[in-house]
Amino acid sequence: MTHATLRSEFESLIDPYAPVGQLGTGFTFTEGPIWHPIDHYLLFSDMPADTRRRWDAARGVVEIKRPSNKCNGMTYDADLNLIVCEHATSSLIRERPELRPQMIEEVLRLRLPVRGVMRTMTRDVELRGVTLPKGANVYIHLGSACRDEALFTDPDEFQATRPNAHKHTAFGALNRACVGAPLARLEIATALDVLIERLPGLRFAPDQGPLRYTESMIVPSLRSLRVSWDVRAKSAVQ
Ligand code: HEM
Repeated sequence: MTHATLRSEFESLIDPYAPVGQLGTGFTFTEGPIWHPIDHYLLFSDMPADTRRRWDAARGVVEIKRPSNKCNGMTYDADLNLIVCEHATSSLIRERPELRPQMIEEVLRLRLPVRGVMRTMTRDVELRGVTLPKGANVYIHLGSACRDEALFTDPDEFQATRPNAHKHTAFGALNRACVGAPLARLEIATALDVLIERLPGLRFAPDQGPLRYTESMIVPSLRSLRVSWDVRAKSAVQ
């Protein structure tokens, strides 16, 4: 037997006698290999090279993104399923503190706490060929605006160095925009600094599946978030 599963429920997914083969060489330190069960490719990152690659039987190993800017342990597909959970010690957010303000904007853009707001039309308005009649209740999808492909390239991607990440609408817009935005940004930055400092290696717990939210058009919240971190050796704490 060449392969074994850590958990018995995965046994039906593997062939324990499949031959072991080398897919490629020349990588410095690869992490996060994830097998796509439908399209049959292996996705992985070369962390020091900040490059994402994939392997499939037809093309072998090909580079698909550089810089990948995905070293912070959280990579999602377009349906927001967690697809790569990489090693937190290589975390970009840890290693590049100067990028933290920008990354906070990018997280706000993709994971905005207030997904949308309601308005009542006070007059008829025509918007891109659609008439919004006076008196109509309108839902403004701030989350959709945050992924506006006319404004953001590859809008579903987390890009740590996205130059215009702050142009999101997580805090609303125009004269009803959030007055607490500067305080919220300060609180997030402070909390992040403290978490990184006090919980070394903070990462998703191995049993954290795709992130699931409560069903709400306004403020959905995470149903659960399972995390792990490293406990410092006693001698390192003293
Ligand atoms: C990450 C944190 C926060 C997010 C995502 C957020 C988001 C928003 C959004 C989207 C709106 C616009 C609502 C609308 O258009 O109807 C709003 C309005 C508002 N927010 Fe925040 N907010 C946050 C934190 C805060 C904090 C910390 C405060 C105060 C200490 C605050 C105070 C307000 C107030 C007073 C308004 C109403 C502004 C107005 O109608 O003129 N918010 N917020």
